[in-house]
Order: sequence, then C-alpha cells, then structure tokens
Amino acid sequence: MRKIGVLTSGGDAPGMNACIRAVTRYAIDQGLEVYGINQGYVGLLQGSINLMNKRSVSDIIQRGGTMLKTARCPEFKEREVMARAVDALDDYGIEGLIVIGGDGSFRGAKDLYEMFGVKTVGIPGTIDNDLAYTDFTLGFDTTCNTVLGAINNLRDTMTSHNRVCIIEVMGRKCGDIALYAGIGGGAELILVPEVEFNIDNVVKGIRRNQRLGKTSDIIVLAEGVCKAEELKAQLKAKGVEGSIKTTTLGYIQRGGAPSMQDRMLGAKFAVRAVDLLKADKGGRVVGIRDNQIIDDDIAEALAMPRIFNKELYKTATILGS
Ligand code: ADP
Ligand code: F6P
Repeated sequence: MRKIGVLTSGGDAPGMNACIRAVTRYAIDQGLEVYGINQGYVGLLQGSINLMNKRSVSDIIQRGGTMLKTARCPEFKEREVMARAVDALDDYGIEGLIVIGGDGSFRGAKDLYEMFGVKTVGIPGTIDNDLAYTDFTLGFDTTCNTVLGAINNLRDTMTSHNRVCIIEVMGRKCGDIALYAGIGGGAELILVPEVEFNIDNVVKGIRRNQRLGKTSDIIVLAEGVCKAEELKAQLKAKGVEGSIKTTTLGYIQRGGAPSMQDRMLGAKFAVRAVDLLKADKGGRVVGIRDNQIIDDDIAEALAMPRIFNKELYKTATILGS
C-alpha cells in the first residue's frame, strides 16, 4: 500500500487533531502518502481531498475539534452513495482509509470494507465512550475533565446557598461521562441510562443527604436518562423542598485542549492503525484494553454488547453518601 486517507466523522472529540497529526507524520515516516479528507464521508462524496505533508499538521496537537472538519452524512448508508465515495478514493489511488469516529462512522467503514473491499481501519474518537470493544475512546478523558471543572465551580456556589444542582451531561445512551466525572467530582447522585431510573430513590437520596447535614447536592444526570428540567419538575412534584438549580453543560464539554491521556491515545492509536494498513490489513478497529493497544475485527467489535461497570456505579453511590 502506498497511499492512505484519513477522515474524522460524527461528533468531534478532543484528541482528534493529535491523532490526525500522528497518523500523518508516522505514515509519511513509513513511506506512505497521506490524504486528508474533509468533513468525513461528505468530503469523500465531494472529492474534498488534500495531500498532506508533515507541516500540514503543525500547531494542532493542543487544539480540540478537528482540522479536517467533521459531518454527519445520513445518505452514506445507501450503497449507491457509498459507491461514489469508492470512485473518489480510486481517482486518488487511495488504497487504505483511517476513519476516526464513533460507532456510526465505524458502520460506514465496515460497509466500505465488506461491500467494496476498501481497506478501512477505525480509530475510536467520541466523547461518549460508548464502544464496547475498547476501554476508552479519544476525547472521553478531556470531556470528563471539563465536566469536573464545571462540578467544582457549581459546588462552590451550591454550597454557599444550600442548594440542589442537577448537572446534565452528554453521552447519548451511555452513562460513562456522568459516571466518571460524577465520581471524580464527588457527586451525591449519578443517574445513568444503564441503571433503571426511580424518582422515589432520588427523592430519598436528597432527603437522606439533607438529614446527614450536607450543604449541597450535586446530581450528575446523563442526557440518556432525561432532561435536567424534567428531573427538576419531577422532584418538585414529589415535594422536595428548597432551591433546585439546573445546568446543562452542552457543547462546552465537547471542545477544549485535549488532556495528556487523549494526546497519548491519539498517538498510539495512530501508530497501530498505520501499521495495520502498511501490512495491507483492513476491516479492523484499534482500541485500548487493560492499558494495551489492541486491534479487532470491525464487525466483531461493533457486535460486542456494552457491559456497564456496575461495581464502579456501586462505589460511586457509596462515596456520594
Ligand atoms: P458517530 O460516528 O460519532 O457515532 P454518527 O452516528 O452520527 O456519529 O455517524 C457518523 C456518520 O457515519 C453518519 O453521518 C453516516 O455518514 C455514517 N454512518 C452512520 N451509520 C451508518 C451505517 N449504518 N452505515 C453506513 N454509514 C453510517
Ligand atoms: O456523540 C457525541 C455527542 O456529543 C453526544 O454526546 C451528543 O448527544 C451528540 O453528539 C450531539 O450531537 P450534535 O453535535 O449533532 O448536536
């Protein structure tokens, strides 16, 4: 293989730039030509493809977002649309494609491999940490740190007023951002979609904390459970007294300079992905398990069921009381 492409797709995540930089510089070092594809699969369809050199990726390691831009491209699920993307790759002589994104982006990469024989390698880039085959995805650590900063700030003001605060965080159907940032931030309650929601238990928890003399209650709520305002309304309807405030962190938690961990992951994932393509292997995804960089078959990785860390959730409940 002589020419490879790289794209970012789906929601951007801090560390994507560090990873693009590492892919580009390592691949060039290994004698490959690297093409940057803009706006994910949209760029493939539009032929928005540029040859990269080592200087193309200067001054990006510390930046959140993605210099290649990203997009959601719903029509990419159609075979005829995908065939046009394959034509674009052929026009440039690109034989291998690195897709940095989440499970949706990986489904595109899997189809390109299985239906058209394009050698694709997926690098997990999403703040949600919702891919079963890897312990961590690029961006998750940075996002958790951003949420931690918000919890610290909110704690100051909530304690000063003896208030309850519901902090809604992202994650789609995955509760990992809430769980990890909640533990790190000392949240009193963490609500995630993987654990059945029971409003009476939440009320009980708040009342117990008030009895225990806690001066603030931080409830970290994963967006996959419900909206912060909905939870507040339910608590009020159940007669919870006192002031309840809500904060939805939104896109603040998706931007920002990547953490050390995400930069390191970006570098290590990139090296493994380029090595796979160099060895002419496609239909793979890279990841990290038990602190070791691994690669798996893309179809098997996507079929793996996510196992929620119930022990960690139990620990969080104990520590928050
Ligand atoms: P993420 O990759 O972060 O999960 P999305 O789910 O939005 O984000 O997926 C990103 C893009 O991947 C979609 O806009 C689409 O172009 C492509 N994609 C998603 N699902 C599929 C699928 N089943 N088949 C082919 N391509 C898909
Ligand atoms: O998948 C990453 C993510 O930030 C989710 O946590 C969130 O639900 C979603 O993307 C928001 O997507 P959009 O950028 O399309 O609003």
